[in-house]
Amino acid sequence: MNPAPAPRPVSHSRTTLTELMIPAYANFGGRVHGGTLLSLMDKVAYACAAKHAGQYCVTVSVDGVNFRQPVDVGELVSLMGSVNYVGKTSLVVGIKVIAENVKTGMVKHTNTSYFTMVAKDDTGQPTEVPALLLETTDDVRRFLEAMKRKELRAAFSEHFDNAKTEMLFAENMHLLTKERCEVTDELRSQL
Ligand SMILES: CC(C)(COP(=O)(O)OP(=O)(O)OC[C@H]1O[C@@H](n2cnc3c(N)ncnc32)[C@H](O)[C@@H]1OP(=O)(O)O)[C@@H](O)C(=O)NCCC(=O)NCCS
Repeated sequence: MNPAPAPRPVSHSRTTLTELMIPAYANFGGRVHGGTLLSLMDKVAYACAAKHAGQYCVTVSVDGVNFRQPVDVGELVSLMGSVNYVGKTSLVVGIKVIAENVKTGMVKHTNTSYFTMVAKDDTGQPTEVPALLLETTDDVRRFLEAMKRKELRAAFSEHFDNAKTEMLFAENMHLLTKERCEVTDELRSQL
């Protein structure tokens, strides 16, 4: 059996990607597509995770994608990623995205999101990643926050799965009355 890989510091895999938002990235409203930003975030997440793991990694889930402010064509977007947490084969990469208007120098924080990645070996199986060496108080805070997020996410999934199983259409139709939806008469007669 191979010995466990030595812990690697967060600084070993910290990655920043800066990209100019060109007109080809614009949506119909003239702002940058959310999908363009997601794609850049996925690249940074991959770079951090693969560098930490020393292995090919895949994206498993993404938390906390809330675009607080639009990004405009012509702005310089920087994505700062670092490994916040490692499990056995999974890693959480936190990514802070900022957009800078080069003329005014104004910087917007557009979002901070968390990508869970899994390292895979040459046969495509999840493989163990090195532990994370925490060197600063921020490293410790991020690791603890990631543990909390993981715990709350698992609790939410369980709670929601139970709620879905117990949810009976007939008993819950009244919840729709104040919502902005309509149920067709045909469907209503079937419920
Ligand atoms: C990710 C994947 C390898 C998990 O496979 P699996 O058989 O469930 O493997 P495991 O149960 O051993 O899980 C492996 C790790 O992933 C984590 N994991 C699995 N599903 C997860 C999820 N939805 N969210 C967060 N972590 C998850 C597990 O907690 C485990 O972490 P740990 O080893 O640090 O404890 C598998 O689902 C996969 O290959 N998915 C496709 C990923 C991909 O191709 N992404 C690109 C999209 S195009």
